[in-house]
Amino acid sequence: MTMGRADHPFSALPNTRGGQVGAIALVASPHFVRELNGIDDPRLAGLRVQEAVPGDPLTGGSEDTIDVMVMEVAPGEPASLERLSRFHARHPQVPVIAAIHDASLALVRRLLHEGVADVVGLPFDREELAGAVTQVLARTSARHGETQRLAPMVAVMQSVGGCGATSVATHLAGALAAERRAREVAMVDLDLQFGGVAQCLSATGSGSIRDLMEAGNRLDADLMAAIARTSPSGVDVFAAPEDIRALEDVSTERLIGVLDLLRRHYRHVVLDLPASITNWQMFMLMGADAILMVVEMSIPSLHQARRRLDLLHSIGIAPGQVHLVVNRVERRLFRTISLDDVARTLGRPVLGSVALEAPLVSAAQDRGELLTGRRNRFVTDVATIAARLTDIWQGENA
Ligand SMILES: Nc1ncnc2c1ncn2[C@@H]1O[C@H](COP(=O)(O)OP(=O)(O)OP(=O)(O)O)[C@@H](O)[C@H]1O
Ligand SMILES: [Mg+2]
Repeated sequence: MTMGRADHPFSALPNTRGGQVGAIALVASPHFVRELNGIDDPRLAGLRVQEAVPGDPLTGGSEDTIDVMVMEVAPGEPASLERLSRFHARHPQVPVIAAIHDASLALVRRLLHEGVADVVGLPFDREELAGAVTQVLARTSARHGETQRLAPMVAVMQSVGGCGATSVATHLAGALAAERRAREVAMVDLDLQFGGVAQCLSATGSGSIRDLMEAGNRLDADLMAAIARTSPSGVDVFAAPEDIRALEDVSTERLIGVLDLLRRHYRHVVLDLPASITNWQMFMLMGADAILMVVEMSIPSLHQARRRLDLLHSIGIAPGQVHLVVNRVERRLFRTISLDDVARTLGRPVLGSVALEAPLVSAAQDRGELLTGRRNRFVTDVATIAARLTDIWQGENA
């Protein structure tokens, strides 16, 4: 797929919040339907197709159970417009997307005026169709208040490499899991090339997040459970793949489909991000409830954090969605940079700071364990951040 425009790589990214797969009925001429064969877009997983030329009546019979109807309309075929109007009158609660070859502006306007939810071109373009369906579904379910609540998703992002994002992310997942039953927190290693979250958590199993992204129509809760690696901390890990591939080699829609699936089955989803910034990462971040930017009290880290915050802002991510976490904070009387300086320099409050606990953090990682202990400042600091995030989410849901 193409994403964004050349002048600004991230400018045309849609908001993916609330996207969900519903039952999609599609009625179109055989030759248009044929071109849909082999589509394995998770957003179109609920597609049910009926072949019918524009004037033919519908034979479905189970229209009451569908969430959205995609119907071909032929401008020169009045019967096709009547068919659409009849369906609309009989099922006013089902949004209709009209599929038209060579639509004139006048026809599009007339259809929208008559209550059609959206219009797509023929022959079908997978991206256009999936996008329209997702948006219409999100709109109607928001209207009916039926959207299945997706679990909060928090992405942990670095300011600079090595600033401690993975340490914060894994311990945050552990803190969120601590108060819960097993298998309620999912940790996804999106450092696809070099990620080591599974090792840090001694998570056992062999599957990776890429197996889910490549599953196509087989993507479901059973496959998800099979790929999830369990860990002693209670966190389920969706590990980075074994082999290294180009970072761009990720389908954004599939990744979002996978994350939505996780968010329907877990209570919390934590993402560990790599240092590099890719298109798919930006796309995905738009759907995150919180982005934790891990910074250190150093000029290079603050400088890079500033640039990243600007980037997030430029693609429309709200400032309130991004939280600062200051890592490796030393208890010292005199410092060149204080937490207040960080907040002032970056123009937003600090959600929490995390103590420097060398060499305990890296020693625990080497053993494949999370650091524990009520008296360990690193542990209590991350737990405080987890509690603050939970408070924010509870406040939003109140
Ligand atoms: N607060 C801390 N106290 C002591 N050691 C820390 C702390 N935070 C991180 N470390 C150590 O610093 C090293 C780098 O941390 P980590 O791997 O979490 O960073 P990262 O930002 O994910 O880096 P990468 O660029 O490799 O993804 C690790 O050895 C980790 O144990
Ligand atoms: Mg890392």
